[in-house]
Amino acid sequence: MSELKPLVFSGVQPTGTLHLGNYLGALRRWVTLQKDYECFYCVVDMHALTVNPVPQQLMEYTREAAAMFLAVGIDARKHAIFNQSRVFQHAELAWIFNCVARIGWMNRMTQFKDKAGKEREKASLGLFAYPSLMAADILVYRATHVPVGEDQKQHIELARDIAKKFNKDYSRRIASLGLGVDMSVGDDIIAGFFPMVEPLIPEISMRVMSLRDGRKKMSKSDKSDFSRINISDTPDVLLRKIRKAKTDSKPLPDTEADLVDRPEANNLVGIYAALANIDKNTVLMEFCGKPFSIFKQILADLLVEKLIPVALELHRLKQDPDYIDSVLKEGAIRASAIAEKTMKQVRDIVGFLQG
Ligand code: TRP
Repeated sequence: MSELKPLVFSGVQPTGTLHLGNYLGALRRWVTLQKDYECFYCVVDMHALTVNPVPQQLMEYTREAAAMFLAVGIDARKHAIFNQSRVFQHAELAWIFNCVARIGWMNRMTQFKDKAGKEREKASLGLFAYPSLMAADILVYRATHVPVGEDQKQHIELARDIAKKFNKDYSRRIASLGLGVDMSVGDDIIAGFFPMVEPLIPEISMRVMSLRDGRKKMSKSDKSDFSRINISDTPDVLLRKIRKAKTDSKPLPDTEADLVDRPEANNLVGIYAALANIDKNTVLMEFCGKPFSIFKQILADLLVEKLIPVALELHRLKQDPDYIDSVLKEGAIRASAIAEKTMKQVRDIVGFLQG
């Protein structure tokens, strides 16, 4: 039985300016993966529609996200950078997955519960089916690895559940068409069409929290710009935001364990550790007993050192929207070729007449 070639897929929603959380939690990882894998990096504009953006803004943020992929160092000559809506096969497969997935599975998604809030009946069908489209994003390339933050783990598990059920529901058909590949899970050798995707979640799980409230995730939708570090912030702004970041009155402790009940301190130490590529205990060895005023200054310097080169490149790229558009278009052509190959087989499997 043949095996699938390892392939990486990941996506970011164009719903706002990208911030430090996107960079440390996901994008930085994308850059390293391109050495060992063929990668598909997608601006998921169809997912963004679930929050009803203003059309002009959606276009602007789509270009901005693509510019960010390039600015952090994704090589568009080697890997595909594209916007989701250009590859219609994502939507086509999502529909098929809507017929595989169960309502109960969607009801359990914590992201849906959070986003829909108390008004569940009024949430859009798109928001509810979001994970099904996400599974289609990944599986339309039969991707094997998906780098995401911790918060997306449940969605990846759902993609695995959908793949498993599809493989099982259509197992005979898949076998008779000779489309099964080796999907070994542990000792079980099973044939299936869709792979069991592996989430690649950063080992030092980096959840960057709001600078105003250490219990809330840093988010592009937070009303206060002082809650987040945008990749495009100037050195002045970076310094001001870090100075104003909420802290407590105690100096820094000497071990990570003592950060447990100090979410804001924990967040700032975590950001420092992630940027410097060291663990939190190593950071604390250097700064324990020091007041936040000193630590914040050094943290701001580190942020400037790491982010300003990316910000400058981003600024340069944003002057040239035609170039960004050509990258997205090229990327979509490449992605479509693979997606269409998968869909031809899927249409056969489920029994759609085609050709
Ligand atoms: N849901 C992801 C997020 O909000 C974005 C996303 C959409 C995604 N499709 C994907 C991530 C496929 C990885 C793979 O961050």
